[in-house]
Amino acid sequence: MSLPAVNLDQDHSAWLYGPEALCRVGPRPQVNDPRRLVLLGPPGAGKGTLAANLQEAFGTCPLSTGDILRAAPTQPGAAQIQTPAMRAALDAMRRGELVPDKLMLDLVRERIGCLRCRGGFVLDGFPRTRTQAEALEEMLHAQDVQLDAVICLEVPTEVVVERVSGRRNCPVCGALYHLKFRPPRHRGICDLCQVGLVQREDDRDEAIRAQIAAYEHAAGEILAFYEERRLLVRVRADGTPLEARDHVLDALTARTVRPF
Ligand code: AP5
Repeated sequence: MSLPAVNLDQDHSAWLYGPEALCRVGPRPQVNDPRRLVLLGPPGAGKGTLAANLQEAFGTCPLSTGDILRAAPTQPGAAQIQTPAMRAALDAMRRGELVPDKLMLDLVRERIGCLRCRGGFVLDGFPRTRTQAEALEEMLHAQDVQLDAVICLEVPTEVVVERVSGRRNCPVCGALYHLKFRPPRHRGICDLCQVGLVQREDDRDEAIRAQIAAYEHAAGEILAFYEERRLLVRVRADGTPLEARDHVLDALTARTVRPF
């Protein structure tokens, strides 16, 4: 059984496809002080982009729950994995609604080993509800690991809509582009895989509005959860991707004794 092609520099197969799919490229050998972060923020805030930039800086593995769901239909043995619960979840995602906590938690628990990856991690899009945040806290405790910080990217709604509506992805390696802000070298073609770029099904107007509403509905509770634990770091992210990364690194350095 062969796995779908991935960009080997960014392999995180165990997260995307579950623990039976071992990562073919592990964390950088020199990582001895892994960073463990959670990224929060509205859809299109730049969480995936920042997770990729933090991976470049620290070798931290980007762990996106949206990516797990998007990978499910292409997974080896997808027919067996397409349970009624998973099909309902994918429909909810297409509409821009949150997937039920139970399914999301089952998927993350299956991948719990990724939380003690020796390269560290950046969780992107999880947790999204208080129930998920409480469950993550238990999972981390069980793995005897601690979060360094929870970063909330703050971006005005009009910027979010422009970012999401111009987003394009490579269907093979998952590389992220933007029609205006990060265009590929050749129009509509992935720089890395040379295949045609696609637009996510939930990047259309109606679904974008639903995603923003879902985020706004749940955000207050989850931000309060991490504020209570003194883990929350709010960062302005309406500048360029590199400015966002630098704001995050500055904010993390300011709140910790070890430099980021
Ligand atoms: P998910 O995949 O997590 O999507 P999201 O959180 O809505 O975030 P996005 O991926 O849309 O945006 P992003 O913040 O990563 O921004 P990006 O870097 O791509 O979730 C999708 C769906 O799955 C959910 O709606 C839900 O249904 C379900 N789901 C997932 N997790 C769940 C959970 N835990 N519980 C329940 N349901 C769950 O950037 C956007 C664009 O802007 C890109 O084109 C990028 O190139 C560009 N860009 C980024 N930064 C900048 C910048 N600084 N300047 C200019 N352009 C930029």
